[in-house]
Amino acid sequence: MPKLMRLTVDNDGIAHLVLDNPDERMNTLSALFIEEFMDTLSKIEGDKSIRGLLLESAKPGVFVAGADIKWLQALKTPEDCRAFAAMAHAPFDRLENLPIPTAAVISGVCLGGGLELALACRWRLAADYKAVQVGLPEVKLGVLPGGGGTQRLPALVGIKNALELICAGKSLKAAEALKLGIVDALFPPDKLAASAADFLREKVRSGEDFRRPWNKEDYRYGVSEEEKSAAFRKKLFEVSRQMTLKQTKGHVRSPMKVIDAVEAGAEKGFRAGMQKEEDVFAEVLCSPEAKSLVDLFMMQNAMGKVYGSKDRSIKPAEIKKVGILGAGLMGSGIAHSIIAAGKKAVMKDVSDEALIRGVKTIQGILQQGVKKGRMTEDKAKGILSLLQTTTGYEEFRDVDMVIEAVFENMDLKQKTIREVEQYIPEHAVLASNTSSLAITELAKASKNPERMIGMHYFSPVNRMPLLEIIRGKQTAEKTIVTAVSVAHATRKLPIIVNDGYGFYTTRIVATYIIEALRCLEDGADVKSIDEALLEYGMPVGPITLMDEVGHDVGAHVLTVMKNVFPERFSDELTEVTVKDGRLGRKNGRGFFIYADGKKMDVDESVYALFKSRKGARLSKEEIRDRVVMNLLNEVGFCMGEGIVTEPLDAEMGLVFGMGFPPFRGGPLHAIDQMGAENAVKKLAELEAKWGPRFKAAPYLVSAAEEKRRLYS
Ligand SMILES: NC(=O)c1ccc[n+]([C@@H]2O[C@H](COP(=O)([O-])OP(=O)(O)OC[C@H]3O[C@@H](n4cnc5c(N)ncnc54)[C@H](O)[C@@H]3O)[C@@H](O)[C@H]2O)c1
Repeated sequence: MPKLMRLTVDNDGIAHLVLDNPDERMNTLSALFIEEFMDTLSKIEGDKSIRGLLLESAKPGVFVAGADIKWLQALKTPEDCRAFAAMAHAPFDRLENLPIPTAAVISGVCLGGGLELALACRWRLAADYKAVQVGLPEVKLGVLPGGGGTQRLPALVGIKNALELICAGKSLKAAEALKLGIVDALFPPDKLAASAADFLREKVRSGEDFRRPWNKEDYRYGVSEEEKSAAFRKKLFEVSRQMTLKQTKGHVRSPMKVIDAVEAGAEKGFRAGMQKEEDVFAEVLCSPEAKSLVDLFMMQNAMGKVYGSKDRSIKPAEIKKVGILGAGLMGSGIAHSIIAAGKKAVMKDVSDEALIRGVKTIQGILQQGVKKGRMTEDKAKGILSLLQTTTGYEEFRDVDMVIEAVFENMDLKQKTIREVEQYIPEHAVLASNTSSLAITELAKASKNPERMIGMHYFSPVNRMPLLEIIRGKQTAEKTIVTAVSVAHATRKLPIIVNDGYGFYTTRIVATYIIEALRCLEDGADVKSIDEALLEYGMPVGPITLMDEVGHDVGAHVLTVMKNVFPERFSDELTEVTVKDGRLGRKNGRGFFIYADGKKMDVDESVYALFKSRKGARLSKEEIRDRVVMNLLNEVGFCMGEGIVTEPLDAEMGLVFGMGFPPFRGGPLHAIDQMGAENAVKKLAELEAKWGPRFKAAPYLVSAAEEKRRLYS
């Protein structure tokens, strides 16, 4: 059995417990870890020569990264969760109650269970170093700190400070942690070990009381006089609950449960708080949102390992320089992502004016980074120096890849492909950032369709993490592997889908919008439609989304989709608003009124455009069912047709491409949570009431018949 930690005792009687999992890059808490940790504590308790304990890590940049996520994934039943919560306190309590002074030596990431370990030590000593991150991010996985974090943190830094950190899952840098009092002292990274040993030796020598006051029955948390007032605390918990509910809309329960646990400790004492923590921990561990968020975390990790081909002997081409066609919104964003990754880029547009605008956009993004302290002015200048601009093609002679982002028009894109191919070397990959056109069709313009691929970025490119890679019928494996390597190099999460109009994400966004417009046509009002979907957890309502995307762009995509799937898509409803001169936010006229670029109220005059408006009242539930089921059904079609082949891609594509609620884990998780059988039943009801466009996708029907889960 691998040993995960080493115990040595120095000449001064200071024990050094060095955490060092030999098989992993990081230390994490696992069943094995806890077992060995408890054994080690027994040894320490039994060795009377030990006068102090330092908890250290041998991993560069990491103290303890938190609990091993696989451990959480293995919890299946409420009994598993209760048993897990019941045993979670013991190691931390035992560490805290050792009869000697203790200190955690934090050399890097110290999160979740890692911080709970450190909090159970009398002192926390950290490196003054950028890799140090201290926090309790459990709520981001739908769970909460179950190793005493909801009690020891407020006891240490006060109720308000602790609530702000735990409910938001926020982590702090070393200096911030010192300021708040989570960390007691900072030392230069190269002197951390020696300074920490000196620190503890001095504490041992001075005989300072190292017992924690909160273990006494009558101790109550609160660092300020205000927090010692019962009336103030009552208000504080009330406001925290209101704010938390506003943020989570009740979808993820763990932040609210954190408040319950902190309140129990603050009002009734540490032990009562610990009991409450155990109860609520057991409850959230088994919640559907925790399962989804934990799965999502694992999926995100898996994306980092996507290669692009089963055949690992196919190596990606080295990409040193990328040519970008179009310096508009997308072209400039893509160029930024390329140069930020240290590669050269040449950006072409039809005029100097367009190029100047594009460069300004890139400078703006870089300046934001400088302002936020993420990079120096020199670094920003260095990045920008990797960019060339041009109105010709000469500079494309030595590119290794081209990404075209000209207007969304098949003829223009094909013409551009023909032009650029006269200049680029044979080996160069030719990618299109089209958001809806079929890659195979575009590739007809290429003399070498094997090198053509879709690389669909999302706007704004510097903030959206997804890259949808589209494999055309003739795209070579090497081209895919190369596109994936660029995704990794530019820190994008790559999904790989097969070709088809709208491929995956655009097709699904189109279903989201079209069914919302049909609800409008049937009599629902704009606000109810958006609210119904926001309540489901979507980040933007479909009607607002249409205004944001631009009605002309939306209409174009819907026309493309209608031509392929006339039974489910139509463009009549978008034509109406476009003809009325409504383009959305960009021209200040859409479903909403815009004043100085700010979204105001609904433009009531828009209703008159929908002549056949039926005026029926639709409940929010009905709106949500129609829009969501239509969307989930289309995901079923995409899976069945082989547009998407991996469940992982289906989930990540929507969560990161359109903001599908992360706590639902993705569309397949959402179907699994209701059960494929129930999904098919619901679709049949909608079909009976609203028409054949709701006919269930064969993929869902077969899953329902076989009682199969879609994401296993
Ligand atoms: N806007 C989005 O949210 C989004 C998202 C994903 C994909 N896309 C796709 O990206 C592409 C570009 O969209 P955009 O929003 O950046 O458009 P945009 O209008 O902001 O920019 C297009 C740019 O292409 C330039 N251009 C036109 N013909 C050219 C040519 N022959 N050579 C070089 N440049 C030329 C234009 O002058 C313009 O600057 C479209 O295919 C669009 O569907 C857009």
